[in-house]
Amino acid sequence: MDKRPRTVILVGFMGAGKSTIGRFLARRLGLCFVETDDMIAAREGAPIPEIFARFGEARFRGLEAEVLDLLEDKRDHVVSTGGGFPCRPGAMERLRTLGTVVWLSARFEALYERASRVGGRPMLMGRGTDDVRALFEARKAYYSQAHLAIETTHLGVDAVVNRIVRELRTRERLAAPVGPRR
Ligand code: S3P
Repeated sequence: MDKRPRTVILVGFMGAGKSTIGRFLARRLGLCFVETDDMIAAREGAPIPEIFARFGEARFRGLEAEVLDLLEDKRDHVVSTGGGFPCRPGAMERLRTLGTVVWLSARFEALYERASRVGGRPMLMGRGTDDVRALFEARKAYYSQAHLAIETTHLGVDAVVNRIVRELRTRERLAAPVGPRR
């Protein structure tokens, strides 16, 4: 019996579709789904925008670090992370030990358009497009440490999920021990 964890961790900028893709992917793989933002909100008993407004970004980042430790217990899950979650020294290395890390990448313009469409994103408040673009550029160095990168700009949800599943199968096949032929 193969005991390797099947955990898949989605990383990427705001608007990358991590929540939607994560939910569909979990269903396809028969795994549970969890979001780091939901874990934080549940621990604090408050939604993310309220945590930012009342305690500031630094407190939120501290909570993200605490939740990173809790992910050890989320084996065989699909985990959707907040856009800044992997963007601190050491976080990507930790995530890579917990499962297969998948970067949902896209062109900045597409991400910005999608992220601005839905409100409730404190990191967009009071920041102009250039500032958000600078944040995106700075974060790429972290995201690009993922095991897999899926370029999603021109793909729908189904196509992204199919591509991830295909890439995961390829990785599994390559990692499988080569046994005697029967
Ligand atoms: C953040 C992204 C948000 C959320 C928080 C901070 C960020 O998640 O974690 O508002 O720093 O990029 P999404 O990436 O799901 O929007």
